[in-house]
Amino acid sequence: MLVKGLREKTMVEKVTVSLIKADIGGHPGHHRVHPKQVEMARELLAKAQKDGLIVDYRVFHCGDDLQLLMTHRRGEDNPDIHGLAWSIFTEITEKVSKPLKLYGAGQDLLGEAFSGNVRGMGPGVAEMEFEERPSDPVLVFAADKTEPGAWNYPLFKIFADPFNTAGLIIDPSLHDGFKFQVMALHEGREVTVKCPEELYDLLALLGTPSHYCISKVFRADGLPAAAASTSRLSLIAGRYVGKDDPVCIVRAQHGLPAVGEVLEPFAFPHIVAGWMRGSHHGPLMPVSLRYAQCTRFDGPPRVVGLGFQVHNALLEGPVDLFDDPAFDLAREEASRVADYLRRHGPFMPHRLGPEEMEYTTLPKVLEKLKDRFK
Ligand code: F6R
Ligand code: MG
Ligand code: MG
Repeated sequence: MLVKGLREKTMVEKVTVSLIKADIGGHPGHHRVHPKQVEMARELLAKAQKDGLIVDYRVFHCGDDLQLLMTHRRGEDNPDIHGLAWSIFTEITEKVSKPLKLYGAGQDLLGEAFSGNVRGMGPGVAEMEFEERPSDPVLVFAADKTEPGAWNYPLFKIFADPFNTAGLIIDPSLHDGFKFQVMALHEGREVTVKCPEELYDLLALLGTPSHYCISKVFRADGLPAAAASTSRLSLIAGRYVGKDDPVCIVRAQHGLPAVGEVLEPFAFPHIVAGWMRGSHHGPLMPVSLRYAQCTRFDGPPRVVGLGFQVHNALLEGPVDLFDDPAFDLAREEASRVADYLRRHGPFMPHRLGPEEMEYTTLPKVLEKLKDRFK
C-alpha cells in the first residue's frame, strides 16, 4: 500500500509480522495444546482484527505452545500488539486452561503485570518489520521442547553456508552476504557479525547455542531477512520452568534464500538441548502440524514450518511445509538418533552438562551431599 509522505514523496507503508507464543497449559501433560485454547485464541484475534488493531492473524501450535501469528502496521515491540498477546494468553488461561485443569495452566506467564512488552515475561517473540516486496514469501518456524539456540544451525546454513544455499554463490543479490545479530543470552547484549568476512567469528559464537543465539539476520544492504525469539525462561525465573520453545520468521526468494534453501537445513535432524525436563540433548525432528506434538520421552524435540505469501499485510496460507515425504528420511534419522541417545539414560552427553543443570535439581543434590564429600 502506498501512502503520501512528507514533501509529497510516496513511501511504502511497512508491515510487521509478529509471532508471539506461550505455553499456557498442555493436554495431556506437556503433550500439546487443547483445541479449545486454539478456538478461543482465534475468536480473540478475530475481534482484534475487527477493531483494526491487527490486519491478519493465524493461530497454530507446536506441541504445548500456542502460537499467535499476527500482521499489523504498528512496528516491532509495539505495546498494543504485545498487550493483545498477553491479554489473550491470560484470558485463555483463566477461561480454558484453569477450568479444564490443563497441565501447567499459564506456566509461561511469569511476569506479574503487563508493562508494555512481553519480552522478559515468559512468552517468546519473533518480530520483523519490512517493506513488502512485489511478492513476499514469509516462512515461520516453531519448535517445542528446545531452546532459541536450536535455530543457530539452520539460520547459519541458510544465510552463510554456500553448501546449503546455492544462491550465495549463484545469485549476485545474495553474493555480498548477510549480517547476523547475535545475542549473548547470559549478558543480554548483542553483537552484529558479517558473513562471509567474519564467518569463523560467527561460528565461534553459534557453536555454543546455550550462550549465544541469533536474534536477527539482515542482508548486507540492510534488508530484514530473519527474526528469532531469544527468551530463556530459566534466566528469567532463575530456575527451571520449562524450555523456551523458540519461534523464528524467515523471508525468502528474490534476493534472499529460496524457500527450498530455507528448508534444506531441516533435512538434517541436528542435536538440540531440551527434550525431557529440558535437560537432554536430542534430535530436532521436522514434522507437519498433524504431528506437532511431543510423545516419546516428551519429544523428540519437534519443529513445524508454515509458509505464507504476505500481500498488503494479509496472510495467504499457511502451507504446512514439512508435510512432505522429502522429510521422511530426516524423521527416520531423528528416530534412530533418539533411540541411540536414549540408551545413555542419565549419562552425558544425552543429559545436559552441569552448567545447564544449574537450573534443575543438581544444586540441591550437591547441597544435600556437601558434608559427605571428604
Ligand atoms: C520439557 C517439558 C517436559 C517436562 C516434564 C516434567 O520442556 O516441558 O519434558 O519437563 O514432563 O514435567 P513436570 O515437572 O511438570 O511433571
Ligand atoms: Mg508445557
Ligand atoms: Mg512447549
